[in-house]
Amino acid sequence: MLRLPFLRKSTNGHNGNGAGTDADALISLRGVIKSYKTPAGEFQALKGVDLRVAPGEFVAVIGKSGSGKSTLSNMITGIDRPTTGEVVVAGTPVHKLREGQIAEWRGRNVGVVFQFFQLLPTLTVLENILLPMDFCNMYTTRERKERALHLLDQVEMVEHAGKLPTALSGGQQQRVAIARALANDPAIVVADEPTGNLDSRTADAVFHLFENLVSEGKTILMVTHDDDMARRVTRTVTIADGQIASDTAGARARVVAPAAHGTVHHAHAPHAVPVFGGAARLSEGAHA
Ligand SMILES: Nc1ncnc2c1ncn2[C@@H]1O[C@H](COP(=O)(O)OP(=O)(O)O)[C@@H](O)[C@H]1O
Ligand SMILES: [Mg+2]
Repeated sequence: MLRLPFLRKSTNGHNGNGAGTDADALISLRGVIKSYKTPAGEFQALKGVDLRVAPGEFVAVIGKSGSGKSTLSNMITGIDRPTTGEVVVAGTPVHKLREGQIAEWRGRNVGVVFQFFQLLPTLTVLENILLPMDFCNMYTTRERKERALHLLDQVEMVEHAGKLPTALSGGQQQRVAIARALANDPAIVVADEPTGNLDSRTADAVFHLFENLVSEGKTILMVTHDDDMARRVTRTVTIADGQIASDTAGARARVVAPAAHGTVHHAHAPHAVPVFGGAARLSEGAHA
């Protein structure tokens, strides 16, 4: 497989994460604070997060339960808004989008995968994939069905297209959810503990789908509890108590420059091949 070295540009003298301007960042959070009002008063779930993710990165977000991982992923997907700070994703200041704009923006730019799949139970597998395409209107009606079946084929679920989600196993539902996340061919996939509800073998197969997506050029941010999986990504961001406690290149990353002043350089391989352009299935070698 073609792998081009990729070096995150350090455009200023600051440390790597979040500081300065970086036109190449696909995801950029600056000074993100998220407070929730609780009966006990204000609670800061994120206490000033700076994070930049470059195209082609596969980022694992780890940390204890309650540390702020889901809150962080919800900032990136626009599911929730920061109290203060900026969230720029795929060139769009997400924190400035109006309520009515967010769903369509998300549909086009960020595929979202959840722990409990969140497929619509009254729609068939095929209809679940068509829905975001109908909503975002990027493909003609004929293209949508063709594309949905192709996506389902990629995750080896095409033979289940007519079934309701309840007829599927957890691993199968998650494969459908991944196909749905890719419906409008977003550059970014954000997954919040996508393997958290799967047995280890099934989890491994689902993780393998994400690995294949990265090698096809997608940028992935995945919240995970699983240390084994965190070791297989290009970068691991650890959240503790609403802050980034560490940010390290993973085993998969080829470090092309020594880390200077805490700056982590990630080498990875975004290339221009459109996802699903090739014959190979995403699920090659992955059976759940
Ligand atoms: N809607 C909310 N209202 C009040 N507190 C919340 C809300 N959502 C999350 N929190 C709190 O924010 C903290 C971080 O939550 P979360 O991001 O879900 O953590 P994680 O995903 O790492 O388990 C937790 O202490 C949680 O209780
Ligand atoms: Mg969570």
